[in-house]
Amino acid sequence: MEETSPETDFPTEIVKEGNVRLLVPKLKAFVKSPSEYAPSKAPVFYNPVMELNRDIAVLALQAYQRTVDREIVVCEPLAGCGAMGVRFAAEVKGVEKVVMTDISAKASKLASQNVRINRLDELVTVEHKEANALLSDYSAPHRRFDVIDLDPFGSPVPYLDSSIRALRNSGFLALTATDMAPLCGVHPKACIRKYGGKPLRTEYCHELAVRLLAGCLAATAAKHDIGINVVFSHSSDHYVRVYATMEYGAKKADESLRNMGYILHCFKCFHRETAKLHSFAKNEGKCSECGSKIEVAGPLWLGKIFDKQFCELMEKEAKHRAFRHGEKIRKILALIRNEVDAPVTYYVPDKICDKLALPVPSVKKVLEVLKEEGFQASLTHFNSKGVRADASAMNMKELLRKVLMSSYGKF
Ligand SMILES: C[S@@+](CC[C@H](N)C(=O)[O-])C[C@H]1O[C@@H](n2cnc3c(N)ncnc32)[C@H](O)[C@@H]1O
Ligand SMILES: [Zn+2]
Repeated sequence: MEETSPETDFPTEIVKEGNVRLLVPKLKAFVKSPSEYAPSKAPVFYNPVMELNRDIAVLALQAYQRTVDREIVVCEPLAGCGAMGVRFAAEVKGVEKVVMTDISAKASKLASQNVRINRLDELVTVEHKEANALLSDYSAPHRRFDVIDLDPFGSPVPYLDSSIRALRNSGFLALTATDMAPLCGVHPKACIRKYGGKPLRTEYCHELAVRLLAGCLAATAAKHDIGINVVFSHSSDHYVRVYATMEYGAKKADESLRNMGYILHCFKCFHRETAKLHSFAKNEGKCSECGSKIEVAGPLWLGKIFDKQFCELMEKEAKHRAFRHGEKIRKILALIRNEVDAPVTYYVPDKICDKLALPVPSVKKVLEVLKEEGFQASLTHFNSKGVRADASAMNMKELLRKVLMSSYGKF
């Protein structure tokens, strides 16, 4: 469906997302070649690829609302054209009010139009303010939000302090990070600067990205005597998301800091282990399996990154919603439900077989044999070729040989 609006001075069109209609920049009009990244060329940001992120955010918000079982006030301080905030107001039951803001006048204006188009004027207010300024306005007791969703360009870190201050006790914070080059170890210095933890370019770097972001949140919240409880997270396309509830109290902060630590990884033999804060010196920098130099990621969040009950609530919500990406979302949620209690980090058999110059068995077969051998094992939504298991790297190599023996009769 195409349309232009007399109120905007750039080409727009109407798209349908979830239960809402959105007036968005007509992306094709802003690119000269298909290789250009259209959302960043348009005068107001809209990325159709993030629809899946918004769908999942709707489910998570509804799950949170069901958990607290009261009306909630939501803030979207980096609103763009208002896609997320408008969808929250239209699609989540129990939302009393949504406050959106954007630093760009054009974005705020377009977000206001989207509020009107969807007849949500009574539920949603749109401001034209800098995010931290708006959040500070709402940081006094009794003014605070139940939910804040940070969906920035790149890193959410510049908005963490003010978001934490603007959330009430047991409030819910959703974070997007799209700066995957720092978080996945391509630019480690930038990651250390922004997130206070060292990344590593391992095969499970997307899980590390989630843990670095959650770790940064825990450390920032602790400065305010607030603890965190990560209830859901995922990695999709070019971004990671973390959803956490915030619990007031120095004790809660101390408890959540106990989840901080390091992941030690040997690039030679694939061995990995975790160490709590200040305790990894015992290894003297060497891999306990093969003696090679061990690399360290962190400090980061070693605690749980999904909550089983919360996942189940999201799955329940997903059942009766007709999302465009419904099937994909149900698959992601089912994978996550199965990996909630699995060990930290996963193996990618392709990587191990590559190093050992072996053919690669199917991940399904590897999973089957791991379970037969008595290991706790599951697939992971982080990587379609990954398996989580309470098996050592040595166990994994032996097991891969066994799988190949049963298929080819050698190795
Ligand atoms: C990735 S877009 C948000 C997309 C939106 N959540 C959606 O689902 O379509 C980030 C937005 O943050 C806005 N922005 C950047 N810095 C800001 C700041 N300091 N305060 C408020 N808005 C800001 C940008 O103008 C942009 O519209
Ligand atoms: Zn090793």
